[in-house]
Amino acid sequence: MAATLLDGKAMAQEVRALARERAAALAEKGRQPGLAVILVGNDPASEIYVRNKGRACEDTGIRSETIHLPADTAQETLEEEIARLNADPAIHGILVQLPLPAHLDADRALAAIRPEKDVDGFHPVNAGRLLAGQDTVLPCTPRGAMYMLKSTGLPLSGKEAVVVGRSNIVGKPMALLLLRENCTVTLCHSRTADLAAHTRRADILVAAVGRPGLITADMVKPGAVVIDVGINRVEGKVVGDVDFAGVRETAGWITPVPGGCGPMTIAMLMLNTVEAAERA
Ligand code: GUN
Repeated sequence: MAATLLDGKAMAQEVRALARERAAALAEKGRQPGLAVILVGNDPASEIYVRNKGRACEDTGIRSETIHLPADTAQETLEEEIARLNADPAIHGILVQLPLPAHLDADRALAAIRPEKDVDGFHPVNAGRLLAGQDTVLPCTPRGAMYMLKSTGLPLSGKEAVVVGRSNIVGKPMALLLLRENCTVTLCHSRTADLAAHTRRADILVAAVGRPGLITADMVKPGAVVIDVGINRVEGKVVGDVDFAGVRETAGWITPVPGGCGPMTIAMLMLNTVEAAERA
């Protein structure tokens, strides 16, 4: 039997409705949430993401400011911009769109954001709080993936969870969130020997590497929940890291690409921004 589709578009609407309601409540008290997005350079994919974030803000009742800096921006200029936004009381969230051009130090830029305004959860203080099991802002993509996973209603405690990909943006925080739910977590990456031996044991499989079609049906345990975080452009089409047509016949639940983790990431950014404004 084909897997049940986890409809990220529909779930993103739920999350955005919640964010919209809470943004309106803040606006009534004269504290409309504000998000600043910094984009450096002209990466076409990043430009699309940033435009979508601006539209989502408008739809949610969040004031948004996009700062588009030229590709040759100096580190000091970028950090001055961050410092200005840190000091602006109308801005509750600051997001530096990644990747940055190669001459810029992303770690230094992320660390320059005030942790209270870090709506990505990438600041070392917030990443450290997640590692230590403390309450903190959660990175948007893993937060969205957990929301979709929990929508299945399956008990997570004791389950085998396998995350493929060890990025700071998705893989590592995703592994920590699954651990927090008492899953037994395996974190696989490009040097993993015999990837399929790991993925076949997974009750929950998260693919976040950016390699189209990496996860094939023979690598998936029958009935597993498969969360596809990949966004790859192949011959003009957007596809995930999972061979969707094959895996949907084996998995119990699967997220589509597009229409899965993508819309959920933006919805969680809206919620993270509203929550930052609520705490401010
Ligand atoms: N680039 C790809 N994903 C993300 C994300 O979640 N946040 C930021 N800031 N940049 C990204």
